[in-house]
Amino acid sequence: MTEENEENNDINPKHIKVDIELDKSLRPGSISEFIGQQKIVENLLVFIKSARKRKEPLDHVILSGPPGLGKTCLGEIIANELGVGFRITSGPAIERAGDLAAILTNLEKFDVLFIDEIHRLNRSVEEILYPAMEDYKLDIIIGKGPSAKSIRIDIAPFTIIGATTRIGLVASPLRDRFGVNIRLDYYDKRSIIKIIKRSAAILGIEITEDGAGAIAGRSRGTPRIANRLLRRVRDYALMSNDSVIDEGIAEKALARLDIDKLGLDVVDKKILHTLVLKFDGGPVGVGTIAASIGEETDTVEDVYEPYLLQLGFVKRTSKGRVATGLAFKYMGVKKETSPALFDSLPENED
Ligand SMILES: Nc1ncnc2c1ncn2[C@@H]1O[C@H](COP(=O)(O)OP(=O)(O)OP(=O)(O)O)[C@@H](O)[C@H]1O
Ligand SMILES: [Mg+2]
Repeated sequence: MTEENEENNDINPKHIKVDIELDKSLRPGSISEFIGQQKIVENLLVFIKSARKRKEPLDHVILSGPPGLGKTCLGEIIANELGVGFRITSGPAIERAGDLAAILTNLEKFDVLFIDEIHRLNRSVEEILYPAMEDYKLDIIIGKGPSAKSIRIDIAPFTIIGATTRIGLVASPLRDRFGVNIRLDYYDKRSIIKIIKRSAAILGIEITEDGAGAIAGRSRGTPRIANRLLRRVRDYALMSNDSVIDEGIAEKALARLDIDKLGLDVVDKKILHTLVLKFDGGPVGVGTIAASIGEETDTVEDVYEPYLLQLGFVKRTSKGRVATGLAFKYMGVKKETSPALFDSLPENED
C-alpha cells in the first residue's frame, strides 16, 4: 500500500502519520490505564512483581499480534511498572552487529530494550543477541583477517521486549530465548467501548454509550482504529455543530467512511470478492489474492487477513486460503453455485 493510500485508509491499523500525535496523548502510561486483555495483564503483573522481589531483570518477553493492539504500549508500561529505563529500537534499524553492540553496552542495569519488528532482524545481528540474552555477554571481534580475535565482555543484566506482527517469521532459536511469550488478540467490544470513552474524555469529546458502541462495532477489535474512528466522528460532529456524539451522529459519520457494520472496508471486500467470486472460494495463495487486488502480500497478511480469519470468513489451509460459508453468505452468493457462472464475470468487477 502506498503512503498516500495509507493516509486515506481509516481501518488500516498500521501506524501512520495521522496517529502519531493522537497516540501520544491517548497512550496508557500505566497498567491501570491499559484496558482489556485481562489475563495477559494479570500474568504480567505476577512476573513483574516477582522480578522486582528477586532483584533480577524480568525474563525476556515477546509480544505478537496484529498492528494497533497495544504491543508498544504494553512494552512501555512493563518498563514503567518495573521502574526501569525504556529503550526503543527496531529490527530494521539495527543493520550491523556493531549497531546492536553499541545499544547493548549503553544499557543500564535491568533496563528494558524494546525491539519492534523483531522478525526483521538480520541473522548476523541475531547471533550477537543470543549470548547477550542468555548470559549478558557480548562477543566482539576485534581486527580483521588472521589477526582478528574475539573478546567477550559483560553487559548489564537487561530485558528484551520483542514485538512482532508475524511471530511465524521469528527464527525459532530466537523465539526459544524468550521466557515469556504473549500473543495479543483482538479486543472484545466492551473493552473497545471503554477505550473509546477513555479517549473521548481525554480529548474533551462528549459521547454516549450507544455512540461509543457504534464506533466500537467498526473498530475491528483494534484500539488504534477505535481512536482513529473516534476522531473522524468528532470531526463530523464539529462540522454539523453537534456537541454530543450519539448513535445517530456516529452512524452518519461512519457511513461516510465506507466501513460496514463489521468493520470491513473496500480492501476487505475486494479480498472477499476475489476469493469468493474469482476463485470460487479457493483454495488460492495469498500472493495471488494480493496481486489480483493490487496490494502487497505483506499488507494482506498483516492487516486484512487476521481479521477475516477472526470473523471466520477465511480459513488458511495447506493449499491456500479458502472462503467459508459465512463469506459466501456475506457476499450474497450461494456456495454450490457453479464456477462456470463466474467465469463469465468481467475481470475487474470492483
Ligand atoms: N489496552 C489499551 N487500552 C487503551 N488504549 C490502548 C490499548 N492498547 C492500545 N491502545 C491505544 O492504541 C494505540 C496503538 O497501540 P500500540 O502503538 O501500542 O500498538 P502496536 O501493537 O504497537 O501496533 P504496531 O504493530 O503497529 O506497532 C496506542 O497509542 C493507544 O492509544
Ligand atoms: Mg508498535
